[in-house]
This record gives sequence, structure tokens and C-alpha cells, in this order.
Amino acid sequence: MQLTKYEEDMYNGEYGEGKAECMEILVSLGKIYDAEKMIPITSAQVSGVSYKTIGDAGLDFVVDLGKKADVTLETMLNPAGVDIENWQELGFSKEFTDKQIDIINGYESIGVMSTCTCTPYLIGNTPMLNEHVAWSESSAVCYVNSVIGARTNREGGPSALLAAIVGRTPYYGNHILENRVADMIFNVDYDFVNEAEIGALGYYVGQIVNDKKPYFRINKNPGRNNLKTLGAALASSGAVSLYHVENVTPEADYSRCHDSFEELETVTVDKNMIEETLEQLTTTDKIPDLVCLGCPHASISEIQEVANLVKDKKLTKDLWICTSKAIKSISKQCGYLDIIEKAGGKIVSDTCMVVAPIEELDYEVIGVNSAKAANYVPNMCKLDVVYDTVENLINMISE
Ligand code: F3S
Repeated sequence: MQLTKYEEDMYNGEYGEGKAECMEILVSLGKIYDAEKMIPITSAQVSGVSYKTIGDAGLDFVVDLGKKADVTLETMLNPAGVDIENWQELGFSKEFTDKQIDIINGYESIGVMSTCTCTPYLIGNTPMLNEHVAWSESSAVCYVNSVIGARTNREGGPSALLAAIVGRTPYYGNHILENRVADMIFNVDYDFVNEAEIGALGYYVGQIVNDKKPYFRINKNPGRNNLKTLGAALASSGAVSLYHVENVTPEADYSRCHDSFEELETVTVDKNMIEETLEQLTTTDKIPDLVCLGCPHASISEIQEVANLVKDKKLTKDLWICTSKAIKSISKQCGYLDIIEKAGGKIVSDTCMVVAPIEELDYEVIGVNSAKAANYVPNMCKLDVVYDTVENLINMISE
């Protein structure tokens, strides 16, 4: 692999032991993927934050690394296992929270921003078209590649963190323009009316394409919230890191003009496929005892929608809307937080229904409007899920 003088110096330890170790691992990774060089990056997003998923081994890794090196560019964390400010009120244990705080402090000590969110692009970590980054949360990878047109591979948490320390990542996969073209076409013969159907589309297609790059033709152009939902679903049932939507996403035209485009395998998605997937994503006919929205973390317009739906209502079961601290703060300024709390709901920050230990709380059935959450909650939390629209879910738990 060709390294610049600066990269070679880092590799050889001129900039300290920590950077040398990071370079060694990243160069080995690059060799596995036949990367010809490293590429400078402008931001990083690091998964592997919840104590539930990384445990003591993850905590030790962060603390050890922190003794040797700091990140050198804008780096944000994925959701943690608890809402750091309101863990007690939500029912999380002190033992778990203490471990979680140690992990976050460890990251913070090496310069990582301690805001924990899977939608960093909603709160300022927003790269530009063609910028190279190293992100690891799968839904965020899908969004930043597809909707923004920045370039990242689907990094693991450690490789994104190492890249943040040396400011470089191996140049292969999605970093190379020619690799970003679609390799399968989906003609969607269905008029979407809500986010649950868009999520079902993503879930259905993800199962078929695995890590290919689907190209969608959809009658009604999806907005940003729907694209966020679509990408998260694609990345959870498959390993999609980049998709295109005709007339919507920034690299769809480049893909369509590619020589081989007309020869790509084409699948038509019809109403039956969407309806079957909607059914498949619900595991029980019971009413949820917790409705948990915000997977990926909610945008301010999604919180506004919830506030409008619960205004002047009384919730009979728990409602959490997961988001970043920053979006929660904007919700407060806009008055949405007050409306939601008055109805009996909560805006929960820094965590989510999948990476929090909700299985330790007294819930049996979780209502979600995210296909990704519907996919993971039964496996990771061993709880039943009801998958539906935000409106239907709120109607189930309000009077
Ligand atoms: Fe984000 Fe958690 Fe969903 S990390 S994408 S809210 S599973």
C-alpha cells in the first residue's frame, strides 16, 4: 500500500505509539481489501458505545486507547445504553449506568464528542457530497452515503475510532466512485402512505440484496425522514450501505448513466410483498406496554408529529421518543417536549430501544414504527413487537 510521508511517519511511531498502532491496524485492514492507499477523512461516527453490547472488554479497549492517543477530527458516538440524565426515572440500574458513564468518559477523554446519537447528520456532523468519512452505525452509513453522497464503508466501531485518531481510512469499497453504482433495480409498484410501509419496503429489499446497492423507482418521492427509515431497514435485514432513489438521491443519475445499468436484474415490488412484510414484522396481537419511537433517532419534525398526535390526549401506557440531546433541547424550545410530557410521554436522549437493557424493565410488548427496531427487539431484547405507524401506535395507547 502506498503511504504518504506523513502516513509513513505515523506508521513508524514518529507521532507516538498510539497513532502507530492505529496505522498498523488500518494498513492491515486496507491490505485485506486491496486498498492501494489511505484517504484523509473529515469526520467519524463510532458505534460500540452501549455497555449492553460491548461489556467490560469494550470499556477496557477505550480506556487503554485513551492512554495513547486522541481523535483528530469531528467524532460523534452512537447511542449508549441509558439516558445519562434520566436513567433513574426510566428505571435503569445504577450498576449499568455507572459502567455506561465510564465508557462515555473514556471516549470523551480522547476528544470524542459525548453526544450519543445514530443521526449525527441531524445535529451538525453533516458531511458534504463526495467527502470521505469513517462512520460505523449501519443506518447512519446508509444515510450519509445515499442521501448526502459522502463516502464511507460500513466501518466497525474500532476501525472508525482508529480512523478518527489518524485522520485516514483505507481507500476501497464505497470510497471509490466506480464502486458506488447500483447493482439491482427495484420498481416499486405501490403508493406509500406512511413510514411503516417505507420501512417494510426497506426490510423486504434488504433481505434480497444483502450488501448490493439497490436502485429504487418510487412513484412518490420520499422525504428525508422516509429516507432515514428506508436506509435503516435496508441495513438491518441486509448489509446495505448505499442505495439510490431515482430523481431523489444525489448519485442516482450517475448510476443510471452507467454502461451496465440497463442490464441490471430488475424486481417489481407490489402491494402483496409490502403487506406480507408488514405482517412479518409484528410478533404478537397484544397491545404494547411501551411505544418506542425514534429509530433511527428522531428528527425535530418527527417529534413535532408526535406532539400533534398526543396533544390534549392522555397516554395509558408508556411512550418514549428516542433522540439526541440536541434535538431534545430544540423540542423543549418549540414546546413539543411540554406537550408530550403533559400527555404522559417522554423524550429519551442518548439511547434507544435496542441498545438499552429494556429487557430488564417491566415490559413485554414494545410498539415500534421502525422496521429496524422490529427486526432487532425480539432478538436483542427478547420482547414481542407490534410494528405499525406512529399514529396507530399512539391511538393504541391513548384516550
Ligand atoms: Fe439508532 Fe438504535 Fe435504531 S442505534 S438506528 S435507534 S437501533
